[in-house]
This record gives sequence, structure tokens and C-alpha cells, in this order.
Amino acid sequence: MAKSLRHWLSQIEEKFPGEFARTSQEVMPSKFEASAIMECLERQAQYPAVLFERARDIEGNPTSFRLLMNTFATVPKIGSALDLAQPTRVEVMERYMKMQSSPKDVTVVEKNEAPVKEVIWTGSEVNLERLPIPRTNEMDGGPYLTPIVVARHHKTGRYNVSWNRCMVIDRNHLGIWMSPRHLWTYFMAAEEDGKSLPIAIVLGHHPAFFLVGAGLTKLDQDEYRVAGGVMGEGLEVTPSESLGSELLVPAQAEIILEGEIVRDRRTIEGPFGEFTGYNGPQRLSWLVEVKAVTARHDGIIVGVFGGHQENLYAHYPIQADIYANVRAVIPNVVDISWVDSGGPLNMIISLKKKTEGEQLRAAMAAFSQSNFIKHVILVDDDIDPGNLKQVMWAVATRVQSDRDVNVLKGMQGQVLDPSLEHEIRGAGLIIDATKPTDRAYAIKAQPPEEIVRKVDLTQIFSPVR
Ligand SMILES: Cc1cc2nc3c(=O)[nH]c(=O)nc-3n(C[C@H](O)[C@H](O)[C@H](O)COP(=O)(O)O)c2cc1C
Repeated sequence: MAKSLRHWLSQIEEKFPGEFARTSQEVMPSKFEASAIMECLERQAQYPAVLFERARDIEGNPTSFRLLMNTFATVPKIGSALDLAQPTRVEVMERYMKMQSSPKDVTVVEKNEAPVKEVIWTGSEVNLERLPIPRTNEMDGGPYLTPIVVARHHKTGRYNVSWNRCMVIDRNHLGIWMSPRHLWTYFMAAEEDGKSLPIAIVLGHHPAFFLVGAGLTKLDQDEYRVAGGVMGEGLEVTPSESLGSELLVPAQAEIILEGEIVRDRRTIEGPFGEFTGYNGPQRLSWLVEVKAVTARHDGIIVGVFGGHQENLYAHYPIQADIYANVRAVIPNVVDISWVDSGGPLNMIISLKKKTEGEQLRAAMAAFSQSNFIKHVILVDDDIDPGNLKQVMWAVATRVQSDRDVNVLKGMQGQVLDPSLEHEIRGAGLIIDATKPTDRAYAIKAQPPEEIVRKVDLTQIFSPVR
């Protein structure tokens, strides 16, 4: 059976207790009622994926369509999307990089074999307000989708798969945000030739398919094939309603909006709760006209909890890419922590330092990978970079600030960082909390490790009666 979101949900429900919850409580997501529940869970440090089974649509009517939030909020959930049971951060990053570099051809299925064709709306039937689309954070400019957008290059025929938020404007229009990456490149090339860009907006699918949308794939790679690699099987696709075989769409998707990014048109989009945890500004963005909607019965919308933990964790493929590239330069790097590091702009790198100064080269390699990185803390391999208590202990006991802190002035920053004074120019910081290699250093106070390892607490304490 081909991989689908339902397939994954049944797996986590059965095998990952605490990672999934379903509710039949009636909610109106467009009035913040779903995100308010997610906020309460997050305040208690609980991050289950939540399936809202009785949601109302934007118009306020009951609908059989459903909403899923926090799909990506924890390492076990991301690991399970990649068929890993209880992975470490490094195992998830290595698995993602391995799978994305083994692309697989798509499998084309007939429309009548494609679950996403169970419901079809065309022409005047198209009405986005009949879907349970959430407004997540108070300032959001409208109900927002956080879908995967599929586009086919009008000249090369290659498919791009990317994560782009879309704000509902009316029953058949959306405002889409594209940073100047591949989807933007595809659109600009089409617009230059006087064309709109046909797209398929995938509202729900297996989480491995979504992760591909976050990855930093190369422009000349066909991302449908990369999706096959990451999913571990060729992606099942089927002809679209609007363009037939000219635009193949994922057959196992939950809901797909078919349409185009309209040439020579722009629209107001935003504000939107960003991954930084702050509301990002309203912008002049691009207009999408939706021409057809196809769906499974009771189709599920994957709604990312913007500005919260899930939003950061969905960036795991980017973290994996940074990890692989930093290790390619400095192989002694053993782990990195970016999404767990207390903020998306901080990165902690642990390494088994062999020579003095190589740790700074690792920091520079990270900076050169992504302008998402503003502060780098370097630690030795006895420190878990995902454990902020350990990291702060290393900073407290291994750093002298006149010697171990470097400030990089005038570096390109991230436009969404609210602390920038200039639009994009900012500063970088490196804190070197590694021990010196050229002199003896104070030894950590603890009982001998080989004796600690022999202790089995279950044999020592009897259960409480
Ligand atoms: C949850 C989530 C939402 C995102 N939303 C957007 C967005 O609205 N616009 C954008 O340009 N990038 C967004 N990104 C980042 C892109 O997915 C990422 O840069 C990706 O590599 C773009 O793919 P592409 O280079 O193939 O266009 C988002 C990432 C995540 C994880």
C-alpha cells in the first residue's frame, strides 16, 4: 500500500503513545479555536499531533474535512516519518540526507485509482470557505494554509516541491509568500515569458512528503523524484483536473487545490506568525487563482502551528543539510543543534577537537551555509548540544570572553529577525566553549564512569507500594 497521511497516523497512534491525540470536540479553526488548544498544550510542554475531527469551515458550517496540527512538533514524529523508531537527532539528520540522495521515479496511476479524486469541485463549486482553514496567531491577516506547493518548470518540465504559506483572500483566491528560492525562480521564468505558473497546492500528505518541501534541494533536481527517495518508494502521481498529464499531482494526497500563480498581479498578504516566534509584516506577495479542488472523503488539512515549536521542527531537513555540509568541511563535528537550541537563529556545534582553531572553521562553515544562523556556540563532544543546561555549563566554565568570543560585524542576517536595525545587515557571534587541546584542563567531577555504567536502578529500588 502506497504511503499516505492516514497510513502514518495509524502508525503513530498505535506505536508512539503520547505523540498523537484525536478530538471530537467541535472547533472553529478560523476563529483561533484550534490554535488556542495547541497553545494550552504547548504551555504544558505537550506536543502531540492533534486531529480535529469535528471542525467548522470558514463560513461556520460543520464539515467532514478535518484538521491536523503539530504533525512535526517532536523528534519521534519526524523520525517516524522517515521510518525510524526512537532516533537521536544525528540519526534523523543522517537518515534524511541519505534518503534524499537516493531519488526514485514516480509511479503514475489512473485517476480512478487515486484517492485524492474522491471529491472533485470545479468552476463555481470551488469554495475555499468550505474548508476548516485555521487562523493561528492573533495578528494573522486571514485564515492561513501551510501547504506544499508543487510546480512544473514550463521549459525543463522539472517538478519543484516547496513549503509556502497561503492566505485565504476569498472563495477562489489566495495570497502566496515565496522567498527568492526555487518556486520563485520557476514563477519569474514563466512570468518573463508572459505566462502564469500552474501549481498544485497539497494540503495534506504523508509527513515525509512535506519534509521534502523544506529541504534545500538543488535547482536542477526533480523534487518529485527526491520525494520518492525520502518516502522510500516512488511517489504515486495522477493527472490533474486542470492540465491532465501536463501537471501530475500526488495521488495519495488528502486535499489538492489546483490553480496558478497569476502573472503580472500582486496582492497584500500577512501579517503572519513566523518561525521566529514573532508576527512578520504584511507584504506585497503573489496572487493564486484556484480552479479546482480534489480531495479524499473526510480529507485532512495539515496545519503547521506557526511561530511555535512545530514550526521550528519542520525545518529539520534544513538542519540536516547544514549538518552534512559542516561535517564535509570539518569531519570532527559530531552533532549540531539548531531547532532545539532555544531559538532558530542560534546554533550549537559539538566536535571532537583535534587541533586548535578548527572549531572556528566549523563555525564559519555553518555561517556560510545559511543566513538563518546568527550565533554559534562551539562545545566539545562531552556536551550534548541539544541539552541547554550542559551547553550553559560549558559556556560558564570553559569561556573567557576576551579570548573566546568573536563578533562578526556587517554580516548578512535574516530579514525576519526583529532585532535587526538595517533591513538585512546584522552581526554574527561565535562563542568558543571548547577546552584547549594544548594544556591540561580541569577534570569533570563525577564517580568513575565504568562503575556508573554498571548501576541498574531497577535492581536497587523496590517498586513503591
Ligand atoms: C513550516 C514551513 C513554512 C514555510 N513557509 C514558507 C513560505 O511561506 N515561503 C517561503 O518562501 N518559504 C517557506 N518555507 C521555507 C521553504 O520551505 C524552504 O526554503 C524550501 O527550501 C523552499 O523550497 P524551494 O527552494 O524548492 O523553493 C517554509 C518552511 C517551513 C518548514
